[in-house]
Amino acid sequence: MIEVKRPGKLYIAGEYAVTQTGHRAIVVAIDKFIKISIKKSENTDKGQIKSFDNVIVNFLRDKKVYLEKYDNRFTYILSAINITELYLNTWVDSFDFYDIEIISEMEDDSGNKYGFGSSAAVTVAMVEAILKYYNADYDNAKLFKLSAIATLEINKKGSFGDLAAVVSGGAILYRKFDVNHVCHMLEKFNIVATVNANWEFLEIRKFDFPKSWKLYVGWTGKAASSLDLVEKIKHQEPTAREFHRDFLVSSEYIVEQIFEAFLTEDFDLLYRFIDQNRKLFVEFGNKYSSHIETDKLKLLSNIANKYHMASKLSGAGGGDCGIAIANNNENEIKLKDSWESKDIKFLYVNIYEG
Ligand code: PMV
Ligand code: MG
Repeated sequence: MIEVKRPGKLYIAGEYAVTQTGHRAIVVAIDKFIKISIKKSENTDKGQIKSFDNVIVNFLRDKKVYLEKYDNRFTYILSAINITELYLNTWVDSFDFYDIEIISEMEDDSGNKYGFGSSAAVTVAMVEAILKYYNADYDNAKLFKLSAIATLEINKKGSFGDLAAVVSGGAILYRKFDVNHVCHMLEKFNIVATVNANWEFLEIRKFDFPKSWKLYVGWTGKAASSLDLVEKIKHQEPTAREFHRDFLVSSEYIVEQIFEAFLTEDFDLLYRFIDQNRKLFVEFGNKYSSHIETDKLKLLSNIANKYHMASKLSGAGGGDCGIAIANNNENEIKLKDSWESKDIKFLYVNIYEG
Protein backbone atom coordinates (compact mmCIF):
# COMPACT_ATOMS: atom_id res chain seq x y z
CA MET A 1 0.00 0.00 0.00
CA ILE A 2 1.21 3.50 -0.90
CA GLU A 3 0.36 6.37 1.44
CA VAL A 4 0.79 10.04 0.64
CA LYS A 5 -0.14 13.17 2.54
CA ARG A 6 -0.15 16.73 1.27
CA PRO A 7 -0.80 20.00 3.11
CA GLY A 8 -3.27 22.82 2.65
CA LYS A 9 -2.28 26.35 1.68
CA LEU A 10 -2.95 29.97 2.54
CA TYR A 11 -2.22 33.02 0.43
CA ILE A 12 -0.25 35.72 2.22
CA ALA A 13 -0.12 38.35 -0.55
CA GLY A 14 -0.50 38.97 -4.27
CA GLU A 15 -3.89 37.35 -4.90
CA TYR A 16 -5.59 38.06 -8.23
CA ALA A 17 -2.48 39.64 -9.74
CA VAL A 18 -0.78 36.24 -9.63
CA THR A 19 -3.38 34.81 -12.01
CA GLN A 20 -1.56 36.81 -14.74
CA THR A 21 1.58 35.47 -16.42
CA GLY A 22 4.82 36.53 -14.74
CA HIS A 23 3.15 37.94 -11.63
CA ARG A 24 3.98 36.86 -8.12
CA ALA A 25 2.37 35.93 -4.85
CA ILE A 26 3.44 34.69 -1.44
CA VAL A 27 1.83 31.45 -0.31
CA VAL A 28 2.40 29.13 2.65
CA ALA A 29 1.63 25.45 3.23
CA ILE A 30 -0.29 24.69 6.43
CA ASP A 31 -0.68 21.61 8.60
CA LYS A 32 -4.14 20.51 7.48
CA PHE A 33 -3.86 17.53 5.22
CA ILE A 34 -5.34 15.43 2.48
CA LYS A 35 -4.24 11.81 2.82
CA ILE A 36 -4.43 9.30 0.02
CA SER A 37 -3.75 5.60 0.18
CA ILE A 38 -3.69 3.43 -2.89
CA LYS A 39 -3.30 -0.29 -3.47
CA LYS A 40 -3.86 -2.75 -6.26
CA SER A 41 -7.55 -3.62 -6.54
CA GLU A 42 -8.70 -7.19 -6.17
CA ASN A 43 -10.99 -6.56 -9.12
CA THR A 44 -9.52 -6.89 -12.58
CA ASP A 45 -12.14 -4.81 -14.37
CA LYS A 46 -12.69 -1.84 -12.09
CA GLY A 47 -11.18 0.18 -9.29
CA GLN A 48 -12.75 2.08 -6.45
CA ILE A 49 -12.42 5.41 -4.73
CA LYS A 50 -13.54 5.77 -1.14
CA SER A 51 -13.80 9.33 -0.02
CA PHE A 52 -16.17 12.06 1.17
CA ASP A 53 -18.89 10.66 3.46
CA ASN A 54 -17.33 7.21 3.03
CA VAL A 55 -19.18 6.80 -0.25
CA ILE A 56 -17.51 4.30 -2.56
CA VAL A 57 -17.50 5.01 -6.27
CA ASN A 58 -16.23 2.68 -8.97
CA PHE A 59 -14.09 3.67 -11.89
CA LEU A 60 -13.53 1.90 -15.19
CA ARG A 61 -10.93 2.30 -17.89
CA ASP A 62 -11.21 2.90 -21.60
CA LYS A 63 -7.72 4.24 -22.28
CA LYS A 64 -8.57 6.86 -19.66
CA VAL A 65 -10.17 6.18 -16.31
CA TYR A 66 -13.74 7.40 -15.80
CA LEU A 67 -16.40 6.97 -13.13
CA GLU A 68 -19.10 4.37 -13.47
CA LYS A 69 -21.53 7.07 -12.29
CA TYR A 70 -20.53 10.70 -12.89
CA ASP A 71 -19.79 12.70 -9.77
CA ASN A 72 -18.13 16.13 -10.08
CA ARG A 73 -16.42 15.85 -6.70
CA PHE A 74 -13.88 13.51 -8.27
CA THR A 75 -12.87 15.65 -11.25
CA TYR A 76 -9.41 16.53 -9.90
CA ILE A 77 -8.70 12.99 -8.78
CA LEU A 78 -9.53 11.51 -12.17
CA SER A 79 -7.58 14.15 -14.04
CA ALA A 80 -4.57 13.53 -11.77
CA ILE A 81 -4.71 9.78 -12.46
CA ASN A 82 -5.14 10.24 -16.21
CA ILE A 83 -2.37 12.81 -16.63
CA THR A 84 0.09 10.83 -14.52
CA GLU A 85 -0.65 7.60 -16.37
CA LEU A 86 -0.24 9.41 -19.68
CA TYR A 87 3.14 10.63 -18.45
CA LEU A 88 4.17 7.12 -17.32
CA ASN A 89 2.96 5.48 -20.50
CA THR A 90 6.46 5.36 -21.99
CA TRP A 91 7.75 3.20 -19.13
CA VAL A 92 4.71 1.29 -17.88
CA ASP A 93 3.24 -1.48 -20.07
CA SER A 94 -0.17 -1.79 -18.51
CA PHE A 95 -1.92 0.06 -15.73
CA ASP A 96 -3.62 -1.64 -12.78
CA PHE A 97 -6.95 -0.89 -11.22
CA TYR A 98 -6.55 0.68 -7.79
CA ASP A 99 -8.45 0.91 -4.56
CA ILE A 100 -8.03 4.49 -3.46
CA GLU A 101 -8.94 6.04 -0.14
CA ILE A 102 -8.98 9.79 0.42
CA ILE A 103 -9.19 11.43 3.83
CA SER A 104 -9.54 15.19 4.28
CA GLU A 105 -8.67 17.26 7.35
CA MET A 106 -9.65 20.44 5.56
CA GLU A 107 -13.20 20.68 6.76
CA ASP A 108 -14.79 20.52 10.19
CA ASP A 109 -17.32 18.00 11.48
CA SER A 110 -20.20 19.93 9.94
CA GLY A 111 -18.53 19.80 6.52
CA ASN A 112 -17.45 23.46 6.50
CA LYS A 113 -14.60 23.98 4.06
CA TYR A 114 -12.14 26.64 5.14
CA GLY A 115 -10.68 27.39 1.73
CA PHE A 116 -7.37 25.65 2.46
CA GLY A 117 -7.18 24.42 -1.11
CA SER A 118 -8.35 20.85 -0.90
CA SER A 119 -8.47 20.55 -4.72
CA ALA A 120 -4.81 21.49 -4.96
CA ALA A 121 -3.80 19.11 -2.17
CA VAL A 122 -5.85 16.24 -3.58
CA THR A 123 -4.40 16.78 -7.07
CA VAL A 124 -0.78 16.78 -5.90
CA ALA A 125 -1.37 13.83 -3.55
CA MET A 126 -3.02 11.77 -6.29
CA VAL A 127 -0.28 12.51 -8.85
CA GLU A 128 2.34 11.58 -6.27
CA ALA A 129 0.53 8.39 -5.24
CA ILE A 130 0.44 7.15 -8.86
CA LEU A 131 4.11 8.06 -9.41
CA LYS A 132 5.06 6.14 -6.27
CA TYR A 133 2.84 3.20 -7.16
CA TYR A 134 4.89 2.66 -10.35
CA ASN A 135 8.23 3.50 -8.67
CA ALA A 136 8.74 6.44 -10.97
CA ASP A 137 11.57 8.90 -10.55
CA TYR A 138 10.33 12.39 -9.74
CA ASP A 139 11.26 15.61 -8.02
CA ASN A 140 9.31 18.67 -6.89
CA ALA A 141 9.50 20.32 -10.31
CA LYS A 142 7.98 17.29 -12.04
CA LEU A 143 5.34 16.90 -9.34
CA PHE A 144 4.34 20.55 -9.74
CA LYS A 145 4.22 20.39 -13.52
CA LEU A 146 2.15 17.19 -13.64
CA SER A 147 -0.25 18.59 -11.04
CA ALA A 148 -0.50 21.84 -13.01
CA ILE A 149 -1.26 19.97 -16.25
CA ALA A 150 -3.92 17.88 -14.46
CA THR A 151 -5.46 21.13 -13.21
CA LEU A 152 -5.18 22.87 -16.59
CA GLU A 153 -7.37 20.15 -18.06
CA ILE A 154 -10.15 21.33 -15.77
CA ASN A 155 -9.61 25.05 -15.39
CA LYS A 156 -7.10 27.47 -16.90
CA LYS A 157 -8.09 30.52 -14.84
CA GLY A 158 -6.15 30.14 -11.63
CA SER A 159 -2.56 30.97 -10.74
CA PHE A 160 -1.49 27.46 -9.66
CA GLY A 161 0.23 29.10 -6.69
CA ASP A 162 -1.73 26.76 -4.44
CA LEU A 163 -0.12 23.74 -6.13
CA ALA A 164 3.32 25.29 -5.74
CA ALA A 165 2.84 25.68 -1.97
CA VAL A 166 1.43 22.18 -1.65
CA VAL A 167 4.45 20.74 -3.50
CA SER A 168 7.16 22.82 -1.78
CA GLY A 169 5.86 23.10 1.74
CA GLY A 170 6.89 26.05 3.92
CA ALA A 171 6.63 29.60 2.63
CA ILE A 172 7.20 30.42 -1.02
CA LEU A 173 7.44 33.26 -3.47
CA TYR A 174 5.63 32.00 -6.56
CA ARG A 175 5.67 33.35 -10.11
CA LYS A 176 2.95 32.32 -12.54
CA PHE A 177 4.09 30.51 -15.67
CA ASP A 178 2.83 31.21 -19.18
CA VAL A 179 -0.18 28.92 -19.58
CA ASN A 180 -0.35 29.45 -23.36
CA HIS A 181 3.25 28.36 -23.75
CA VAL A 182 2.57 25.17 -21.77
CA CYS A 183 -0.63 24.39 -23.72
CA HIS A 184 1.29 24.96 -26.94
CA MET A 185 4.01 22.50 -25.84
CA LEU A 186 1.37 19.93 -24.90
CA GLU A 187 -0.19 20.17 -28.35
CA LYS A 188 3.07 20.17 -30.26
CA PHE A 189 5.14 17.72 -28.21
CA ASN A 190 4.17 15.06 -25.73
CA ILE A 191 3.64 15.28 -22.00
CA VAL A 192 7.11 13.94 -21.13
CA ALA A 193 8.79 16.64 -23.22
CA THR A 194 6.51 19.28 -21.71
CA VAL A 195 7.30 18.18 -18.16
CA ASN A 196 11.03 18.18 -18.92
CA ALA A 197 10.95 21.58 -20.64
CA ASN A 198 11.59 24.93 -19.05
CA TRP A 199 8.29 26.68 -18.30
CA GLU A 200 8.53 30.37 -19.09
CA PHE A 201 8.27 32.66 -16.05
CA LEU A 202 7.73 29.82 -13.57
CA GLU A 203 9.55 30.43 -10.30
CA ILE A 204 9.05 28.79 -6.92
CA ARG A 205 11.34 30.18 -4.26
CA LYS A 206 11.16 28.78 -0.77
CA PHE A 207 12.06 31.04 2.15
CA ASP A 208 11.97 30.88 5.95
CA PHE A 209 8.99 32.35 7.73
CA PRO A 210 10.63 34.13 10.70
CA LYS A 211 10.75 31.77 13.69
CA SER A 212 9.35 34.19 16.27
CA TRP A 213 6.53 35.50 14.03
CA LYS A 214 3.06 34.02 14.32
CA LEU A 215 0.48 33.38 11.65
CA TYR A 216 -3.15 33.44 12.76
CA VAL A 217 -6.16 32.51 10.70
CA GLY A 218 -9.76 33.53 11.13
CA TRP A 219 -12.68 32.07 9.21
CA THR A 220 -15.58 34.37 8.44
CA GLY A 221 -17.94 31.85 6.89
CA LYS A 222 -18.50 30.39 3.50
CA ALA A 223 -17.13 32.35 0.53
CA ALA A 224 -19.77 33.88 -1.66
CA SER A 225 -17.63 34.47 -4.73
CA SER A 226 -14.48 32.80 -5.92
CA LEU A 227 -12.85 32.91 -9.30
CA ASP A 228 -15.72 34.70 -11.03
CA LEU A 229 -13.80 37.91 -10.75
CA VAL A 230 -10.80 36.49 -12.57
CA GLU A 231 -13.15 35.77 -15.47
CA LYS A 232 -14.60 39.30 -15.31
CA ILE A 233 -11.14 40.84 -15.63
CA LYS A 234 -10.64 39.07 -18.93
CA HIS A 235 -13.63 40.81 -20.49
CA GLN A 236 -13.05 44.30 -19.22
CA GLU A 237 -13.50 47.58 -21.08
CA PRO A 238 -10.57 49.94 -21.84
CA THR A 239 -10.77 52.15 -18.71
CA ALA A 240 -10.84 49.08 -16.53
CA ARG A 241 -7.89 47.75 -18.47
CA GLU A 242 -5.85 50.74 -17.44
CA PHE A 243 -6.92 50.28 -13.83
CA HIS A 244 -5.91 46.65 -14.06
CA ARG A 245 -2.46 47.54 -15.40
CA ASP A 246 -1.89 49.82 -12.43
CA PHE A 247 -3.24 47.16 -10.12
CA LEU A 248 -0.66 44.67 -11.41
CA VAL A 249 2.20 47.14 -10.99
CA SER A 250 1.13 47.97 -7.43
CA SER A 251 0.67 44.33 -6.48
CA GLU A 252 4.09 43.42 -7.83
CA TYR A 253 5.74 46.16 -5.76
CA ILE A 254 3.79 45.17 -2.65
CA VAL A 255 4.73 41.48 -2.98
CA GLU A 256 8.38 42.43 -3.43
CA GLN A 257 8.34 44.54 -0.27
CA ILE A 258 6.59 41.83 1.73
CA PHE A 259 9.11 39.27 0.53
CA GLU A 260 11.92 41.63 1.56
CA ALA A 261 10.23 42.06 4.97
CA PHE A 262 10.23 38.30 5.51
CA LEU A 263 13.87 37.94 4.46
CA THR A 264 15.08 40.76 6.71
CA GLU A 265 12.53 40.06 9.48
CA ASP A 266 11.41 43.66 9.25
CA PHE A 267 7.98 43.59 10.87
CA ASP A 268 7.16 47.28 10.28
CA LEU A 269 7.77 46.84 6.59
CA LEU A 270 5.56 43.75 6.57
CA TYR A 271 2.81 45.58 8.41
CA ARG A 272 2.84 48.53 6.00
CA PHE A 273 2.70 46.44 2.88
CA ILE A 274 0.19 43.84 4.07
CA ASP A 275 -1.99 46.87 4.77
CA GLN A 276 -1.34 48.26 1.28
CA ASN A 277 -2.28 44.94 -0.25
CA ARG A 278 -5.48 45.01 1.77
CA LYS A 279 -6.34 48.51 0.52
CA LEU A 280 -5.54 47.47 -3.03
CA PHE A 281 -8.16 44.70 -2.82
CA VAL A 282 -10.76 47.13 -1.51
CA GLU A 283 -10.13 49.36 -4.56
CA PHE A 284 -10.04 46.36 -6.83
CA GLY A 285 -13.33 45.04 -5.47
CA ASN A 286 -14.98 48.45 -5.83
CA LYS A 287 -13.85 48.69 -9.44
CA TYR A 288 -15.36 45.36 -10.37
CA SER A 289 -18.42 45.70 -8.10
CA SER A 290 -17.36 42.66 -6.18
CA HIS A 291 -17.15 42.46 -2.42
CA ILE A 292 -13.71 40.97 -1.89
CA GLU A 293 -13.22 42.42 1.57
CA THR A 294 -16.59 41.68 3.13
CA ASP A 295 -17.72 43.50 6.30
CA LYS A 296 -16.65 40.53 8.37
CA LEU A 297 -13.19 40.35 6.78
CA LYS A 298 -12.86 44.08 7.40
CA LEU A 299 -13.73 43.55 11.05
CA LEU A 300 -11.26 40.66 11.25
CA SER A 301 -8.42 42.88 10.02
CA ASN A 302 -9.42 45.89 12.11
CA ILE A 303 -9.36 43.76 15.25
CA ALA A 304 -5.96 42.28 14.36
CA ASN A 305 -4.58 45.77 13.66
CA LYS A 306 -5.66 46.84 17.15
CA TYR A 307 -3.20 44.25 18.48
CA HIS A 308 -0.43 45.44 16.12
CA MET A 309 -0.80 42.53 13.79
CA ALA A 310 -0.55 42.82 10.02
CA SER A 311 -3.81 41.61 8.55
CA LYS A 312 -5.72 41.07 5.32
CA LEU A 313 -7.98 38.58 3.64
CA SER A 314 -6.38 35.43 2.28
CA GLY A 315 -7.31 34.01 -1.11
CA ALA A 316 -10.18 35.16 -3.24
CA GLY A 317 -12.07 36.85 -0.39
CA GLY A 318 -15.83 37.33 -0.38
CA GLY A 319 -15.83 35.32 2.86
CA ASP A 320 -13.50 32.48 3.87
CA CYS A 321 -10.29 33.28 5.70
CA GLY A 322 -8.35 36.29 6.75
CA ILE A 323 -4.84 36.19 8.19
CA ALA A 324 -3.06 38.09 10.91
CA ILE A 325 0.72 38.09 11.37
CA ALA A 326 2.27 39.07 14.69
CA ASN A 327 5.93 39.41 15.66
CA ASN A 328 5.30 37.69 19.00
CA ASN A 329 2.55 35.62 20.62
CA GLU A 330 1.62 38.07 23.40
CA ASN A 331 -1.81 38.97 22.07
CA GLU A 332 -2.88 35.56 20.84
CA ILE A 333 -5.64 35.03 23.43
CA LYS A 334 -6.94 38.57 23.02
CA LEU A 335 -7.09 38.15 19.27
CA LYS A 336 -8.90 34.83 19.58
CA ASP A 337 -11.45 36.20 22.07
CA SER A 338 -12.08 39.36 20.07
CA TRP A 339 -12.53 37.46 16.83
CA GLU A 340 -14.82 34.94 18.47
CA SER A 341 -16.93 37.64 20.07
CA LYS A 342 -17.68 38.76 16.50
CA ASP A 343 -18.41 35.26 15.29
CA ILE A 344 -15.07 34.85 13.50
CA LYS A 345 -13.71 31.37 13.99
CA PHE A 346 -10.11 31.22 15.21
CA LEU A 347 -8.41 28.31 13.45
CA TYR A 348 -5.33 26.62 14.79
CA VAL A 349 -2.88 26.19 11.96
CA ASN A 350 0.88 26.08 11.63
CA ILE A 351 3.10 26.47 8.65
CA TYR A 352 4.02 23.00 7.40
CA GLU A 353 7.60 22.69 6.23
CA GLY A 354 7.13 19.26 4.65
O1 PMV B 1 -9.53 31.47 -2.56
P1 PMV B 1 -8.27 30.74 -2.87
O2 PMV B 1 -7.51 30.42 -1.66
O3 PMV B 1 -8.44 29.62 -3.80
O4 PMV B 1 -7.26 31.75 -3.58
C1 PMV B 1 -7.53 32.37 -4.76
C2 PMV B 1 -6.39 33.28 -5.07
C3 PMV B 1 -6.57 33.96 -6.42
O5 PMV B 1 -5.38 34.70 -6.67
C4 PMV B 1 -7.75 34.91 -6.40
C5 PMV B 1 -6.78 32.94 -7.52
C6 PMV B 1 -5.56 32.10 -7.83
O6 PMV B 1 -5.72 31.06 -8.45
O7 PMV B 1 -4.44 32.50 -7.50
MG1 MG C 1 -10.67 30.77 -0.93
